[in-house]
Amino acid sequence: MSSEKEKLIVFDTTLRDGEQSPGASMTKEEKLRIAKLLERMKVDVIEAGFAISSQGDFEAIQLISENVHQSIVCSLSRAITADIHRAGEALKKANAGRIHTFIATSPIHMQHKLKMEPDEVIHQAIGAVKLARNLINDVEFSLEDASRSDFEFMCRVTEQVINAGARTINFPDTVGYAAPGEYGQIIKRLIENVPNSDKAVFSVHCHNDLGLAVANSLSAVNFGARQVECTINGLGERAGNASLEELVMALKTRSDLYPVNTDIDASYIVPISKLVSSITGFPVQPNKAIVGANAFAHESGIHQDGVLKMRETYEIMKAEDVGWSRNKLSLGKLSGRAAFTARLAELDIILDDKNEFENAFKKFKSLADKKREIFDEDLQTLISEIQYGEDQRYTLVDLEIKSKLGKSPNAKIMIGHEGQINVSESLGDGAVDAIFNAIEKLIDSGSKLEVYSVNAVTQGTDSQGEVSVRLEKDGKIVNGQGADTDILVASAKAYLNAINLMQNPEKVHPQLGGI
Ligand code: KIV
Ligand code: ZN
Repeated sequence: MSSEKEKLIVFDTTLRDGEQSPGASMTKEEKLRIAKLLERMKVDVIEAGFAISSQGDFEAIQLISENVHQSIVCSLSRAITADIHRAGEALKKANAGRIHTFIATSPIHMQHKLKMEPDEVIHQAIGAVKLARNLINDVEFSLEDASRSDFEFMCRVTEQVINAGARTINFPDTVGYAAPGEYGQIIKRLIENVPNSDKAVFSVHCHNDLGLAVANSLSAVNFGARQVECTINGLGERAGNASLEELVMALKTRSDLYPVNTDIDASYIVPISKLVSSITGFPVQPNKAIVGANAFAHESGIHQDGVLKMRETYEIMKAEDVGWSRNKLSLGKLSGRAAFTARLAELDIILDDKNEFENAFKKFKSLADKKREIFDEDLQTLISEIQYGEDQRYTLVDLEIKSKLGKSPNAKIMIGHEGQINVSESLGDGAVDAIFNAIEKLIDSGSKLEVYSVNAVTQGTDSQGEVSVRLEKDGKIVNGQGADTDILVASAKAYLNAINLMQNPEKVHPQLGGI
């Protein structure tokens, strides 16, 4: 393969498609923290949300537009006038903004979802791109469900939307149906058959329903795609999207096979994976490629022996290259305000509000009393706690657990609500069950517990436990988080956080409400 490599544009959609994972909705402050790290990592395009889907998403795009200067900031919009105006409005302050507009082109979507004739779809697509181009220079157009669309029809749509001014054309494998060879060939034939294909970047966006999202994206890259859309930890609708870390490291590790380079600084991969997992409450499976806890662990004696003699016997990448050792020992018990502020600034966290800063510093000091070494992950978790603590209707005031071998544990909990403190007590099958029962006895939320998980934030037995609680009620799904060096306290915080989210009307899933 020639050493002349072309640039591959990395388009991250963690904050939009990633947020479409059930329960993964993020606040605008949380989105900004992820966006800042994506920018540091040198992601080319950050899809910050779907402006018309909710006021929260609109504000998140605005906030990211104001604060991210190196990456292009993008908003999704249907090929509908109101959507496009809303996206343009949200992106007004962006240094470089992009409107990403889409309409479905497959027969099944056109007939059953849109109830439109193919010519009407083309007409609407052209109108949308022209309108978007009146608002902004950088317009991307997606042919939703491209992998199940008629090839000749896709050629017509693509030619026309390029003529209308779209400079990136995206061919999503919306339902994860494609296979690598076939998908690569579709991209190749599109580039060959669309007369003005040289005027646009051809992009791919693959879902992982058959576990082929990364393979499909790489195949498309080999056949001419020059933008890949992906997410951190492969988060996304249903089985998720192509994972950024897998794509980037496959391209780096097997650069002999691919004609492209990315600008991504891979040393941010693990820190951002942890941040996204902590904010969304979606744990990373231990055997997940690149970012799973076991990705660089060697269990078998033969492997350990080989690695000790020569690392390359069983390792194709270096753990430190993807950031496994990047998170430094940050601070300790004796660190003062200046050190605390400086470390937060290195993590792109600025606490302008004096009360918010003092609250964070107090929490840091109290954590440092319980835990000798405070790492970056601890600080990120602490900031998450403060940020989602802001609009808590119910707060944990105190918790007492009585537990004895062979007996049902008893939880007594004090919960603050509207200036009052209420007490509740309950038994349970285990201590966590007792806590949740005691909370429900008082609040009676009517929610169903779907997922409960605990993760250690850092290593060591003094690590904070980060608990995730997923609740469901009438189709609304929320993920609550809580962290503490005591996992029972973390569990109580997470459950209350989930109830607070459930009762917050702003916290509607971005895709609910008819969009
Ligand atoms: O999967 C998909 O088709 C999408 C589009 C909106 C780009 O997410
Ligand atoms: Zn998608």
